[in-house]
Amino acid sequence: MSQFITIEGGEGAGKTTNIHFIVDYLQQAGKDLVITREPGGTEIGERLRALLLDPDNKIIDSRTELLLMFAARAQHIAEVIKPALAQGKWVICDRFTDATYAYQGAGRKISRADIAILEQWVQADLRPDITILLDVPVDIGLQRVNLRADQDRFEQEKLQFFDSVREAYLSMAKAEPKRFRVIDASKPLAEVQASLQAVLAKVCGT
Ligand code: TMP
Repeated sequence: MSQFITIEGGEGAGKTTNIHFIVDYLQQAGKDLVITREPGGTEIGERLRALLLDPDNKIIDSRTELLLMFAARAQHIAEVIKPALAQGKWVICDRFTDATYAYQGAGRKISRADIAILEQWVQADLRPDITILLDVPVDIGLQRVNLRADQDRFEQEKLQFFDSVREAYLSMAKAEPKRFRVIDASKPLAEVQASLQAVLAKVCGT
């Protein structure tokens, strides 16, 4: 049976490395995977991503930002996610709507109710089956990000923005313990991956 798995986390949580690990594990378990990301995952979505992340776009209104996230998502669902799930594939998606609640909601202060209207309209009953939250204290995450040469529009935000993002993720995880698996991503990589392996073994029923 298909599974829709999303991976979330703040900046510098090690998403890229850990998604590689997740993908390797599931492929070895024989799962037929589609690996994708948001914003992005389609030609139009990747163009919207470029607009959204470009630090030269200094005056994107929060509502514009929210609508562009959902515009990319609508295309992604229609073109990639729904068809893959309908074919029984497992979709591994680097961020999804929880990121909107965390960044546009808690970060940009758009109400959850307003985001929920778009979520319902764009997604109907589509929700992730499992969400892996790679949680890392903001200062540790930002230390990692600051080592990178080019920072995108979100990475240039202030500490308080990222504190709100992290709190929002953790409170969503608390509110939906069946869907969320929270991994302490501040631990050494081997420990993080041991925790991921335990989660994935259960998801695969092995
Ligand atoms: P990342 O894929 O490298 O994490 O970059 C995507 C950025 O976009 C990240 O800073 C979080 C942000 N984002 C939102 O603000 N809202 C969303 O709905 C999504 C999917 C991502």
